[in-house]
Amino acid sequence: MEQVRTNTLLKNKTLKATSLRAVAGTALLSAVVGLSACSSPADPDIKARQDIMKSYSDAMGIMGDMVKAPDTFDAAVLKDQTSFLAEASKSPWVHFGNAESIGNSTKAVWSDNATFVNESEKFQQVTAQLDAVAQTATSVDDFKPAFGDVGASCKSCHTDFKVKTD
Ligand code: HEC
Repeated sequence: MEQVRTNTLLKNKTLKATSLRAVAGTALLSAVVGLSACSSPADPDIKARQDIMKSYSDAMGIMGDMVKAPDTFDAAVLKDQTSFLAEASKSPWVHFGNAESIGNSTKAVWSDNATFVNESEKFQQVTAQLDAVAQTATSVDDFKPAFGDVGASCKSCHTDFKVKTD
């Protein structure tokens, strides 16, 4: 399973080679300096789920750029991103098992776990829906509503379950 996820992540990163290098660079830096902030990036579960979340942002960014410039619509690029997201939408949740590994999550992930699980299931549904819509989309208008639903799902979960880092 882990192997599958890694491959999918790498496949997505071929479009974003620079961010892959950035991730590798950060990992190297952490190893060298032994960085340990309060978010403990050294914790493998926190790092794994944060890396997956970052890959979501990459995919959303690529699709968001297309939405902003509808003449750049590219069905193949779109389908690549939506299938990546639909698959990767299943991956982070297993890394939220340990309530001690808090990272930038709120305690509600564990104290109100039923709602968190519900949000994660909703997210898997809307990403699957976006991927389904992408299969026949011929313009930005065709996938924009489903794309909006995915963005709303990210935001909805972050409101209660991710600490504000900005
Ligand atoms: C079901 C809840 C949930 C959904 C859905 C969700 N996230 Fe997150 N996200 C979290 C939590 C919790 C964290 C904090 C992880 C941690 O540091 O422990 C997080 C962290 C992040 C981070 C910061 C990663 C880092 O390096 O610290 C980014 C970026 C992010 N999410 C993007 C997204 C995007 C984009 C989507 C939608 C495509 C999304 N997330 C969907 C819960 C969610």
